[in-house]
Amino acid sequence: MEISRILDRYPSIPYLREKARRRVPHFAWEYLDSGTGLEKAVSRNRDRLDQVCLTPRFTRGYAAPELKTSLFGRDYAAPFGMAPVGATGMMWPGGEQVLARAAREHGLAYCLSTVACETPETIGPIAGPNGWFQLYPFDDAEAETDLIDRAERAGFEVLVVTVDVPVSSTRERQRRAGLSRDKGGLSRLAQVLARPEWALATARHGAPRFKTIEPYLAKEQGVALSEYVAKRIGRIDHDHLASIRERWKGPLVVKGILAQEDAEDCIKLGMDGIVVSNHGARQFDAAPASIDALARVAPAVRGKITVLFDSGVESGLDIVRALALGADFVLSGRSFIVGIAALGEAGGDVVAHMLKTDLENNMIQLGCSRPGELASCLPQRA
Ligand SMILES: Cc1cc2nc3c(=O)[nH]c(=O)nc-3n(C[C@H](O)[C@H](O)[C@H](O)COP(=O)(O)O)c2cc1C
Repeated sequence: MEISRILDRYPSIPYLREKARRRVPHFAWEYLDSGTGLEKAVSRNRDRLDQVCLTPRFTRGYAAPELKTSLFGRDYAAPFGMAPVGATGMMWPGGEQVLARAAREHGLAYCLSTVACETPETIGPIAGPNGWFQLYPFDDAEAETDLIDRAERAGFEVLVVTVDVPVSSTRERQRRAGLSRDKGGLSRLAQVLARPEWALATARHGAPRFKTIEPYLAKEQGVALSEYVAKRIGRIDHDHLASIRERWKGPLVVKGILAQEDAEDCIKLGMDGIVVSNHGARQFDAAPASIDALARVAPAVRGKITVLFDSGVESGLDIVRALALGADFVLSGRSFIVGIAALGEAGGDVVAHMLKTDLENNMIQLGCSRPGELASCLPQRA
């Protein structure tokens, strides 16, 4: 179907969400959509983004937006990209390939997760120069070094180290949907049978697996996946970050920064960038809204390190808000996944188009032709 016809039916992410919820099994939806605890941080991210108002500057004349953005020595078509999402292929079979392809076609960044369903070797050539690789720190130096080297050999240009998962969070909704067990039971089978389109696509593509980490898991005979992840993945400190810095020669970004002091430590450790993020509110329910953390952190580190932002972004307007508050670049996780869960192959293309046109539209409303001008529309500075 032509993209404008799809957009007539699903003009923004909330419409796609509804479709996605009805198209994928309940456990996959709960994995994608949930936060943790009472999910207060999920609503906090949304509410605080909504509260960022910007004052249009109509008399400056019509602004033709120029979205092209240079980051870590490479040009992207827009100042936003796709955040790493584990088990993307569970939300839609082959989802990693679909999104990597769409990112490359649209000139956007695509970040592959350590716990994706596809390996860096498969996705690297598809994403090409637009590929970033997300690394969870391993409590297994050999595995971690091997993975960093694999990412480099597969052609990934940027390494993103995620520091905000020292332990798995409770994620009550996922647990109730049966995802905390390593093996699917009857209830999961029933959830699959209720979604025949997803079931057929999965039968064609193969069941989702954590292909990247399988070789490391295999070394520890008899250890279940959940046990391996709990024991071996996520813990980090300054020395560990310094060792990754030593190994990875390209742009290195630390994801999951909320405190100004942590951002300053990243500068001292020689990092190239930080992602101000509360992991889409999936880890810690008392976390500050990411947009509030951005407003504190970005001015403190401006000019010393590149600042990226994520958590809660679901429109071009949200991207505008983050750029105005000091982000150099913005990532979105769930929006792109909702796109493929709702529309399959067309999903990456549709969401990229949706966010880009909404970003342009809102920049025109504000009379800003470049992201760098958006800060001038914050009310206190207008
Ligand atoms: C289903 C899901 C899986 C995720 N998996 C990872 C992951 O493997 N690695 C990581 O660094 N972040 C992961 N994240 C967090 C995202 O990279 C990003 O920080 C978050 O999704 C941003 O919030 P948003 O979804 O509201 O855009 C995941 C997020 C979701 C929703």
